[in-house]
Amino acid sequence: MLYKGLSFSLKKGELKSVVGESGAGKSTLFELILGNLKPLHGSLKVTSKIAQVFQDPYSSFHPSYTLLNQIKDVVISLDQLDSYLELLHLEPSLLRQLPHQLSGGQLQRASIVRAMLMQPELLLLDEPTSALDNLIQLEVMQMLMKHLQKKEIGMLLITHDAHLASWCSDEIITI
Ligand SMILES: Nc1ncnc2c1ncn2[C@@H]1O[C@H](COP(=O)(O)OP(=O)(O)OP(=O)(O)O)[C@@H](O)[C@H]1O
Ligand SMILES: [Mg+2]
Repeated sequence: MLYKGLSFSLKKGELKSVVGESGAGKSTLFELILGNLKPLHGSLKVTSKIAQVFQDPYSSFHPSYTLLNQIKDVVISLDQLDSYLELLHLEPSLLRQLPHQLSGGQLQRASIVRAMLMQPELLLLDEPTSALDNLIQLEVMQMLMKHLQKKEIGMLLITHDAHLASWCSDEIITI
């Protein structure tokens, strides 16, 4: 059994971090929340529209299609797309590239842009800033926290970075 006595809830406007050693079941918890796996015991109640930023950004996108092809379906306003690209320091021309033509950090940010464009009520973030330098990590987290303050969204963040978790979280969930 991966989890024992695990119990938490999350409201819009809250960010909770999930921490635990490698192999503890953090990414598996997200699979359960997404409904891709069923719990053997216990129950989960998820009522929100969910978007996820995957741990491995290369698995987030199909390798044979440009990023624009894979993002355009969720673009409601071009202004909104431009503003996310600018906030996350991504050149718009990168969207015409294939995923493997971007660096891991660029692709991680593209995956955050796509998730935010989906306007989720619950955002699952699995090590979303692990490939980013400290300054860009801070900017990404500040952008996310601005949305939290508007209470439009709740976030679960998996991170190995204890400093980041204690800085941004309402609660730290240890599994
Ligand atoms: N597709 C899979 N099939 C079978 N077992 C799996 C699969 N994915 C993960 N596991 C197992 O489930 C357990 C939890 O894995 P999980 O990926 O959730 O860990 P994690 O906490 O996210 O680790 P990390 O910090 O390294 O990303 C591990 O023991 C792993 O071997
Ligand atoms: Mg994991």
